[in-house]
Amino acid sequence: MEQQDIKQAIYKLKQERNAIILAHYYVDESVQQIADFIGDSYYLSKVVLNRPEELILFCGVKFMGESAKILNPEKTVIMADEYADCPMAHMIDPETILDIRAKYDDLAVVCYINSDAEIKRLSDVCVTSSNALKIVKTLPHKNIFFIPDNNLGRYVASKCPGKHFIFHDGFCHVHTSITSENVLKAKEIHPDAKILVHPECTMDVIDLGDYVGSTAGIIDYATRSSSEKFIICTEAGIFYELKQKNPAKKFYTVGHRVFCPNMKLISLEKVYNALKTYAKPIELSESIMSKAKTALVNMHRLAE
Ligand code: 13P
Ligand code: SF4
Repeated sequence: MEQQDIKQAIYKLKQERNAIILAHYYVDESVQQIADFIGDSYYLSKVVLNRPEELILFCGVKFMGESAKILNPEKTVIMADEYADCPMAHMIDPETILDIRAKYDDLAVVCYINSDAEIKRLSDVCVTSSNALKIVKTLPHKNIFFIPDNNLGRYVASKCPGKHFIFHDGFCHVHTSITSENVLKAKEIHPDAKILVHPECTMDVIDLGDYVGSTAGIIDYATRSSSEKFIICTEAGIFYELKQKNPAKKFYTVGHRVFCPNMKLISLEKVYNALKTYAKPIELSESIMSKAKTALVNMHRLAE
């Protein structure tokens, strides 16, 4: 089918199925174009609340669909591609959390939303890159076990000097492929460009940022800024929305295409097939969902 025909077929099926389509900024632009809502992880976790549609179709990675299911257990949640999964979500195991809990008093387990439902279940609060700093600052606990992303954890810790952090060694292989050498080279070529950095990058890259924030934060900053040029230190899918919102501004890569292979698994054909067949709905046990929900609800409450 031609792209336009697939898009028409998706619209038709979406209505028949009473479905809503959500997409992260990192998926291919053709997929972003057919989504009802596009956003960062935090926005996508909120926009699914209290929707009238029966079916939620997620164009993103598995932890996003799981979070939607946990927050809306009565809804059917399907993934455009069931194999699209964030490796970081599996970089910590439950035993590590239980060990740290046994070692420290006055401890909060702060879990980046890029994690398995089982890990959320054992955590006190979830965070995303857009609210991690605000939430950790709000917590009364002295000790913070920040899981699984080491880089986001260290960035948050650098802004919370009064707290004691225990870090884990999780990372995003996409963002850590961005090196400070490449960023400095891009800055040499575009000296008047602002450097916008996602906090999943390593600290030496973060330190070069004129702005550090989530994908939505980066888009917002570039849109409000009086600057005309920006070096973008995050996944390439964000360029679509950046250009949509700022057609006259210039956006530069750090020299190589920063590509999340899992986000890029999603295509229009897969969206169509998932809607047509109802794919394989996300299923989680009641006991995991109810406790994991507390960590997500705590995030929504503390982020406001
Ligand atoms: P945000 O959506 O919070 O910017 O995080 C980016 C990411 O890597 C999602 O997997
Ligand atoms: Fe996971 Fe990184 Fe891909 Fe986001 S960009 S889904 S953190 S691998």
